[in-house]
Amino acid sequence: MIAIGSDHGGFELKNEIIKHLKKRGFTVEDFGTFSKDSVDYPDIAKAVCEPVAAGKFSFGILVCGTGIGISIAANKIKGIRAALCADPYSAAKAKQHNNANVITLGGRVTGPDLAMTIVDAYIDADFEGGRHQKRVDKIMDLEQN
Ligand code: RB5
Repeated sequence: MIAIGSDHGGFELKNEIIKHLKKRGFTVEDFGTFSKDSVDYPDIAKAVCEPVAAGKFSFGILVCGTGIGISIAANKIKGIRAALCADPYSAAKAKQHNNANVITLGGRVTGPDLAMTIVDAYIDADFEGGRHQKRVDKIMDLEQN
């Protein structure tokens, strides 16, 4: 199960991503926003990331205008490793090396065709563990101190 959300800047791309994920057979829970009216991206980041961090979803996808603000907000939530992805190579590495549990995209930066290759690259990659596990553990230690 996948959690997804966007602000107004990512509204259209979010809807495209939802369609794509459903076509691939995934169950998606949409945490809004549900119109192009202006909203604050930290509120959406919190709504998506808290249940992701609690293990209620396999991962989350967040979209704002650039993908930057919503990734900064997401990374303030304990247990979240959010990666802003603008290309499929980075999206695959975000899973393989960083075990990111949230990816963020920029609805005003990344077109829908590219966005779907990014989402697919992340989903289809696996965390490699090993030396990367130690580094991810060190990231998570930073939250504790
Ligand atoms: C909203 O105008 C815009 O600031 C937001 O979508 C995002 O790009 C922030 O990082």
